[in-house]
Amino acid sequence: MESLLIKGGVPLHGQVHISGAKNAVLPIMAATLLTREKCVIRNVPDLSDVQFMGKILESLGATVKFEDGTFTVQAAKLKGHGDYDLIRKMRGSICILGPLLGRLGKAQVSLPGGCVIGTRPIDLHLKGMRDLGAKITIEKGYVIANARRLSGTELFLGGRSGPTVLGTANVMMAAALADGVTIISSAACEPEVCDLANFLNAMGAKISGIGSPTVTIMGVKELHGVEHEVIPDRIEAATFAIAAAATNGEVQIKGARADHMHAVLDKLGECGVKLERNGPDLTVKRGSRLKPVDITTLPYSGFPTDCQAQMMALMALTPGLSIITERIFESRFMHVPELARLGADISIEGPSAIIKGGRPLSGAPIMASDLRASAALVIAGMAAKGSTQVNRIYHLDRGYEKIDTKLQKLGARIERVEGE
Ligand code: EPU
Repeated sequence: MESLLIKGGVPLHGQVHISGAKNAVLPIMAATLLTREKCVIRNVPDLSDVQFMGKILESLGATVKFEDGTFTVQAAKLKGHGDYDLIRKMRGSICILGPLLGRLGKAQVSLPGGCVIGTRPIDLHLKGMRDLGAKITIEKGYVIANARRLSGTELFLGGRSGPTVLGTANVMMAAALADGVTIISSAACEPEVCDLANFLNAMGAKISGIGSPTVTIMGVKELHGVEHEVIPDRIEAATFAIAAAATNGEVQIKGARADHMHAVLDKLGECGVKLERNGPDLTVKRGSRLKPVDITTLPYSGFPTDCQAQMMALMALTPGLSIITERIFESRFMHVPELARLGADISIEGPSAIIKGGRPLSGAPIMASDLRASAALVIAGMAAKGSTQVNRIYHLDRGYEKIDTKLQKLGARIERVEGE
């Protein structure tokens, strides 16, 4: 298994280009199943999750091609069920349920499992499909959904932690081809959901209220092929911004959508990080002295859970007491014991992590547990004294395009090696 070997203590300097957003492209790839016509998606990041989703679409009968950041799909013929094991392995694959049900009136999709960040139920996805008129059963590890016709309705998609991102995506895709009007209340407002809605509208769907908690979808008979460019990855951009601050560097983040990053930029500013916006570029520079902050993760436009781990690495380096409260995923603190191996002083009290920052970090072998935890460990390793080996980096390759090459270009001493 591959690892990253990092020699810490080098400030990051230079420019980095932001890739297309993983969490926008995965549901958009699923949405291509809603038409027989060819769809062309540009600015697609080369990630293992994207390759995996491509395989799932192929297993459903679609023809796919992925070359130089452009993903071409044509699902002229479509099966209602794909490869059980392929679908089960990737959480994001649940968003094929809505398109299959919308186009074929039936779907058989393996239940995605829980994962280290939480149990990750899909009850809200299923509730949404039932409200649209689908009959749903769970049999032998499959979700089996049938509906002769889906009918538009008013439905509420809020759960115990607020809206659901992929649940909103799923219901929007199914409702695009339903009879009549669907109104989703407590819809997710994430930019990735908006990108999907814009993609669907370009295909001929009639969706309004995009980016608000009330989304209205007027069902249409048919959708057509389309070309679309995926939005930049706000989580990747935030990760590089935090890395620049943590290493005491200065980085120009090219092609970021700062307007999708208000909560993160606001907290970085509160920490004392210097930020300069220039059109689509963002320059990030560590201020003279960092200050501790309190953060609570929330649905968009609040502070994103996908940046919580990276921010914790920065707070571990910041003198003073910071508190980070995780309100979206109940066990998204797997990075805490690994940061402790580097010398960080962090304790967990219920949903909150209490960080006594400012202790010197020193390199050690550490283990990545999930995508964003891995990014946090890389940031901490780059700021620590000595060598850090981050093991199990396949998590990173799921969601960060060529992160080691991008960091090397910024001056980081980081290389891929065979590891545990
Ligand atoms: N939830 C339910 N029932 C459901 C669905 C969700 O109770 O049916 C709960 C979840 O357990 C969680 C909350 O609702 O407590 C929000 O979960 P959500 O459904 O919004 O998460 P998701 O759609 O499965 C996407 C991203 C995640 C990101 C979350 C939150 C993709 C492929 N995944 O997941 O991304 O953390 O939204 O913003 O879009 C990542 O990129 O590292 C990642 C985990």
